[in-house]
Amino acid sequence: METVKVSASKEYLVHIGSGYLDGIGEKVKEIKRLCRVVIVSDDTVFSLYGERVKKSLTDSGYSVCEFVFPHGEESKSAENFIKIQEFCAENNITRTDLFIALGGGVTGDLTGFVASTYLRGVDFLQIPTTVLSMVDSSVGGKTAINLNAGKNLCGAFYQPIAVFADCETLKTLPDETFNEGCAEIIKYGMILDADFLTFLKENDIRENIEYVIKRCVEIKRDVVSRDEFEKGERKLLNFGHTIGHAIEKCSNLTISHGNAVAMGMAIATKGAFELGLSYEDYSDVLLPILKKNNLPTTCEFSADELYKVSLTDKKRSNNVISLIVPEEYGLCKIHKIDISQLKDFIELGLK
Ligand code: NAD
Ligand code: GLY
Repeated sequence: METVKVSASKEYLVHIGSGYLDGIGEKVKEIKRLCRVVIVSDDTVFSLYGERVKKSLTDSGYSVCEFVFPHGEESKSAENFIKIQEFCAENNITRTDLFIALGGGVTGDLTGFVASTYLRGVDFLQIPTTVLSMVDSSVGGKTAINLNAGKNLCGAFYQPIAVFADCETLKTLPDETFNEGCAEIIKYGMILDADFLTFLKENDIRENIEYVIKRCVEIKRDVVSRDEFEKGERKLLNFGHTIGHAIEKCSNLTISHGNAVAMGMAIATKGAFELGLSYEDYSDVLLPILKKNNLPTTCEFSADELYKVSLTDKKRSNNVISLIVPEEYGLCKIHKIDISQLKDFIELGLK
């Protein structure tokens, strides 16, 4: 088992290993005294792993109940946010109890946001079960739900008390969902780690999954410890996300986050070069790695459609938007542009 320590407003460990889910109760006991536990999970993940996690926690002395919601991005909603809060209140969950997010990024973001607000804040921990949630969403404390106007527009920074990534759970992940997580992995190589980018060029992610997860968590840990509340450097982690979120929204959430981020990174890389924000066209580096991992590199929406939706992006401040663009091989920079230039950027990126 590998561990990575995250130092932010809370200090916590990210555990990365394989085959330890049946002993999770004893691991939780090392960091949280006996209490009531609310497992929040989607129907797919709960049917695969819910009873095992529940049994282990119960055997260790915890009193456990669960809230299970339909899988999919649409569930990261205000409706489910309130339903979980009401469920907790009806079950007399108190401030000293614990939430466990068992699942992918949708479950983690939703549970974390509930935990940040229920009784003004209750401990929560993450058991991520997708590649994406292991390398990105379970670490760093961004929690959110979607609004009609766009993705993640309502949320909080709220760190978990621990993350337990058991790579054995990835064996039941459909190939397509596995690949979607690879988009965020490739993101880390592009923004901050040239050696890791070369590693991804030359090696297979699946064959090296534990190493890859650990490296991504370390990169994210470093960024979050320097800029937890995204005043500056953390914006780099949004490479591909301004356009990616617009793609998700334009598709009515039928295009997954991972696929949208892959398209967003490809469009941003091309657009940055064509607009003169990058000296070189790093598409030559990025596209082969995306394709090797069966990820899409372009999308069917027009620049106009994507532009209109991008206007709700959180990285916008008045009429200025922060774009993340390649500066060197394995290094991105934050570049501010006037919102009026965004449409050109997208249009050139789609060429
Ligand atoms: P997800 O949680 O919807 O999971 C994808 C699908 O895989 C679901 O249908 C789920 O039921 C299924 N699944 C999960 N684990 C499984 C397993 N082990 N075996 C079989 N099926 C399994 O989506 P995701 O791709 O994990 O996460 C995407 C979400 O994460 C988006 O909402 C995105 O905005 C968010 N996100 C958040 C952050 C952050 O920092 N908080 C970072 C990146 C992405
Ligand atoms: N996934 C982007 C961030 O955590 O900042």
